[in-house]
Amino acid sequence: AHQWRGVVREYADRLPVTESTRVITLGEGGTPLVYAQKLSALTGSDVYLKVEGMNPTGSFKDRGMTMAMTAAVAAGAKAVVCASTGNTSASAAAYATTAGLTCAVLVPEGKIAMGKLSQAIAHGATLLQVDGNFDDCLEIARKLAEAYPVFLVNSVNPARIEGQKTAAFEIVDALGDAPDIHVLPVGNAGNISAYWKGYKEYAAETKYESQDGGEARTLPSVSTKLPVMWGFQAAGAAPFVAGHPITNPETIATAIRIGNPASWDTAVAARDESGGLIDAVTDEQILAAHRWLSAKEAVFVEPGSAASVAGLLKQHEAGKVPAGKTIVCTVTGHGLKDPQWALRTEGGGQVEPVKVANDVVSVAAALGLEPSA
Ligand code: F0G
Repeated sequence: AHQWRGVVREYADRLPVTESTRVITLGEGGTPLVYAQKLSALTGSDVYLKVEGMNPTGSFKDRGMTMAMTAAVAAGAKAVVCASTGNTSASAAAYATTAGLTCAVLVPEGKIAMGKLSQAIAHGATLLQVDGNFDDCLEIARKLAEAYPVFLVNSVNPARIEGQKTAAFEIVDALGDAPDIHVLPVGNAGNISAYWKGYKEYAAETKYESQDGGEARTLPSVSTKLPVMWGFQAAGAAPFVAGHPITNPETIATAIRIGNPASWDTAVAARDESGGLIDAVTDEQILAAHRWLSAKEAVFVEPGSAASVAGLLKQHEAGKVPAGKTIVCTVTGHGLKDPQWALRTEGGGQVEPVKVANDVVSVAAALGLEPSA
């Protein structure tokens, strides 16, 4: 029986590794592409969700981290560092443990979800809460890696983008061709850059340099087309919409609370080369999409992940979603990372589970059931 071997081994011929590379993996990738029944019915297109919360640490970051940690080990690193809004730190901590490296993570104080904080600590990272935002953390992490013996595993490391491009490969492999539209949340902008790279490599004959001095290999195209890329930022943290970095980004979607994205140029290129857009959605639209995903599609995500679907719903309301197309929305992280939002009512109140006495009649009454005839 064949077991999925993780993205680096599954897509080794399109990644910077060789047969002899020591691959650091937890079996990431191979995530479900779930048909979204209600979004499809609403739009008249076939809408799929790429459910990245099903990765080993519960987010898409694992695709990049397997490659980054593999590169760290190949470089002889003993310690890695990253800045994070939470998911990268959880992933780095887990993969560093697998690799046998020490891991330091810099997170914005008080602004990361409890699940992610717990993961980083559980996997043994040294977690430092910085009195600043993600952008400040990333600046420090970059300077640290320049001046001290620590290996940077943020998405400014090209290995991260290489690993993350495999999500586009999986989608094409599952659908038989690229979708017409790909929708995803945008924060530091590594992921939109990675997807676009993956889609482009699958749409054309692509040459990959050898890593061990052997022959470069040229692989044939797999897909016949490229998708239009639609990225969505949180309205309070939307530098691409503003056209310049934002000094004090704010959103309840802490994963994408970023004002100065590192992968600026490659994200703009993905948007423009694909004829797509990067737009903003409000926190209320994000929470409405979060509720839609849980209640209608049975997919539980963290708020930042719901920005993609919030964007699709916004575009639909504006009459801008064509019917008869294939659309993929990436939902980037698991709902259990940041579960508090599920207990919030539409009006902003708190859901209180109904209390009931310890007997069947009371439970039946609470459920509005009549005895069977
Ligand atoms: N969705 C989730 C759940 C994320 O954690 C992130 C980024 C994004 C979307 C945005 O992806 O940065 O590639 O544009 N999280 C990073 C982190 C910043 O530190 O975990 P992006």
